Amino acid sequence: SKVIFSGIQPTGIPHLGNYLGALRQWVKLQETESDDTRLLYSLVDLHAITVKQDPRQLRQWRHESLATLLAIGLDPARSIIFHQSDVPAHSELMWILSCTASVGHLSRMTQWKSKLALPENAKPLDSPLQLGLFSYPVLQAADILVHQATHVPVGEDQSQHLEFTRSCATGFNHLYGDVLTEPETILSPAKRVMSLSKPADKKMSKSDTNYKSRILITDSREEIQRKVKTAVTDSIDGITFDPINRPGIANLVTIMQYLLEDELITPEELVKDIPTKSALKDRVTDVIDAHIEPIRERFNKLMSPDDRDYLIDVAEEGAEMAITSAEETMKKVRDAIGFGSAS
Ligand code: TYM
Repeated sequence: SKVIFSGIQPTGIPHLGNYLGALRQWVKLQETESDDTRLLYSLVDLHAITVKQDPRQLRQWRHESLATLLAIGLDPARSIIFHQSDVPAHSELMWILSCTASVGHLSRMTQWKSKLALPENAKPLDSPLQLGLFSYPVLQAADILVHQATHVPVGEDQSQHLEFTRSCATGFNHLYGDVLTEPETILSPAKRVMSLSKPADKKMSKSDTNYKSRILITDSREEIQRKVKTAVTDSIDGITFDPINRPGIANLVTIMQYLLEDELITPEELVKDIPTKSALKDRVTDVIDAHIEPIRERFNKLMSPDDRDYLIDVAEEGAEMAITSAEETMKKVRDAIGFGSAS
């Protein structure tokens, strides 16, 4: 049967790229998948520490990130929602996979190569580079394989890591027999939402130093308005949908289209009656705000002291179920390798 797994780093409130590229799919799968499909969604805190984190900030972020997943509509009665570090099997399988993973393949990862290309003083922790940044995809592979996931809904930037995950499964199976499942990637239509400040060449990203380059899924109407107002467009008159020559306008229009979720409206039709850039920006602000408002309200409620214990319970129950799911796989893995007593 099907198993769906995905993860997000708990390094701040998710933005519209995270939401449209991944999180909204997670919620939809709750509605479209039959009851025997297992759904697991993880806050990948072990991945978060590949760059320097302040422990108090990280603890706060883990809590907030869990609240955002509930606020967008993930239901702990249907989906297993958990903190990665609560399930030690992820780290255990990572080591095991490290013993068959290819260094050559890892060094071709664009995420790693982009870290190598940074100037010395901009490198994430103190130089030299950390082993964890290099082996990051092995942990990601372990996340997925430890639950025998068949499908992984992610944005396009994760495609290479998913390809690597499949190679980890084959590498292990080649040596030890058919134990691990090769997962398929599920890309949403919004697989690459662009930055509001550099729409031609940068995706919307949590690590961009310009906070106005991204809209968070808990932003107030005023914040949305301010960020959309300063979004980079172009100096051409009027509004047309032309992703190549007018990437800024096209990004705003596609964000709007994804949020409206009306497959029958084309982006060209959507802009037909919009005369000016300021009219477009007003409309985009309205559409984003209308979509985000209920998320923002649920988030604020979940972050109130009254709901603190509820969130802790959700995380505990999620961890328990994720441990059970992972142990099913780890029994087979350990057995195949020759660990434990013969059964
Ligand atoms: P992370 O935390 O960077 O992002 C979470 C999800 O959001 C998607 N995403 C985007 N989609 C479209 N447009 C964008 N601008 C955009 N920015 C981010 C990402 O593709 C991702 O799906 N390595 C992962 C976390 C991870 C994981 C896993 C994911 C760890 N283990 C196992 C899937 C399965 C990451 O850093 O995602």
